Amino acid sequence: MKIYVSRDSAAKALGADEVAEALTAEIDASGIRGEIIRTGSRGMVWLEPLVEIDAGQGRMAYGPISADDVPALLGGRIDSLGLTEEIPFFARQTRLTFARCGVTDPLSLSDYETHGGLVGLRRALVMSGEEIVDEVKVSGLRGRGGAGFPTGIKWDTVRLARAAQKYIVCNADEGDSGTFADRMIMEGDPYTLIEGMAIAGLATGATRGYVYLRSEYPDAIAVMEEAVKRARAAGILGADVLGSGRTFDMEIRSGAGAYVCGEETSLLNSLEGKRGVVRSKPPLPALEGFLGRPTVVNNVISLATVPVIFEKGADFYAAFGLGRSKGTIPVQIAGNVARGGLFETAFGMPLGELVEEVAGGTASGRAVKAVQIGGPLGAYFARDKFDTPFGYEDFDGQGGLIGHAGLVVFDDSADMLKMARFAMEFCAVESCGKCTPCRIGAVRGVETLDRIAAGDSAAVEVLTDLCEVMKDGSLCALGGFTPYPVMSALQAFPEEFAGVKEAAE
Ligand SMILES: Cc1cc2nc3c(=O)[nH]c(=O)nc-3n(C[C@H](O)[C@H](O)[C@H](O)COP(=O)(O)O)c2cc1C
Ligand code: SF4
Repeated sequence: MKIYVSRDSAAKALGADEVAEALTAEIDASGIRGEIIRTGSRGMVWLEPLVEIDAGQGRMAYGPISADDVPALLGGRIDSLGLTEEIPFFARQTRLTFARCGVTDPLSLSDYETHGGLVGLRRALVMSGEEIVDEVKVSGLRGRGGAGFPTGIKWDTVRLARAAQKYIVCNADEGDSGTFADRMIMEGDPYTLIEGMAIAGLATGATRGYVYLRSEYPDAIAVMEEAVKRARAAGILGADVLGSGRTFDMEIRSGAGAYVCGEETSLLNSLEGKRGVVRSKPPLPALEGFLGRPTVVNNVISLATVPVIFEKGADFYAAFGLGRSKGTIPVQIAGNVARGGLFETAFGMPLGELVEEVAGGTASGRAVKAVQIGGPLGAYFARDKFDTPFGYEDFDGQGGLIGHAGLVVFDDSADMLKMARFAMEFCAVESCGKCTPCRIGAVRGVETLDRIAAGDSAAVEVLTDLCEVMKDGSLCALGGFTPYPVMSALQAFPEEFAGVKEAAE
């Protein structure tokens, strides 16, 4: 009998380590023949700690399980949820990037290879840089870190740049609210990120890579460090990648924790040991990035998706999706929801279906009021926008953005004026200070929202003007996108900004 328990930090926070210990103790005490395997997460966080038992009929799911439940579980006295992969939340997904996550032991290279790992890298090793880049272009892969920029075009710029040294930098800062896909893949399938970075190196001629990982993710740091060590020992990284004579090596660096360090130029400054302040563009990082050299800066999911594209082919990947939003997107569902977790699906599913059906509505049982998509700088979508399909252009057309595809759901008790104030305050606190519209504008924005809260409805016009200035005049998207949550809240719920004092009189 094989027993699978996640070692993902969300599962651990809910007691997975204690459950695994109790399972070991019970197996020892009862003489049951069982092997415990620690995996990544299946992404069904509301069921964690999830225990899967395979006694020959496939992996049956039980959850949430506490350490106290273990004797009853092994004694067959707890009802199963059925085969894990038949649980509707799981069965409705298209798992490409996350295909191995929750299935394999994250640090086992043999597990990795048995489940399709390294097929993509082996294929890329016999291709030219141009052919590799073309494959990525045909796949339609766009940056999953926020801006949705075509990955193949970014790689081509670095490939064509002439320099003695080039770099691949993985942006694992994952600062957006309600997002955890980067962490989940790093903890649950670290070799796919390593493989993706190696392919990026082969494509562009970069021989060194760095993962810039947020310090708040100690488990991900530990798993990635160990995975890099094992990959190097196995000859996947180093001076002779899989015996090809090609070089690619990488290391893990941890950031000190500022939201703006997720912005690529600020990240590069931080990686160089400088203060995390945004750099003006141009020059693009693709031409003058880390230490002034041509650098690919890509998000974790962008890079971790590359191996499956090379394993299954660009056309296979591009056949999923909607319009120019090709392939799949790991949607992270959080906030006030009945079923929170990671849901990888082809682009195109309507937002309302994700919120009402997949996530099952709110945990509080009240009506959904709004969903913030794309982190703290993302717009609030009220129910009238729930038929918007998940796609870059579709969201843009509705005044929103996908960002890193985190959904934070709010019920009808949410105070949208307070949420707008929070966005402005967040910007004021996290501003790097380099440009005036963001540094000063956000502080004035908080004050203006306080005036509105105190009943001064004339301040709504000031707020609107201020948002216009921040949007047009900020150097980076931290200041430039703060108007999204503020203005979307104002536009969708104008009555909540209509002068509380008047209403009370
Ligand atoms: C304030 C701010 C924070 C950001 N935070 C992140 C982040 O945490 N992770 C990330 O991948 N991209 C983040 N980005 C986007 C990056 O600047 C950059 O576009 C991305 O890393 C490029 O990778 P991609 O093309 O693979 O998406 C942020 C951007 C801004 C303006
Ligand atoms: S918008 Fe804000 S975070 Fe971005 S450069 Fe200007 S001050 Fe810095």
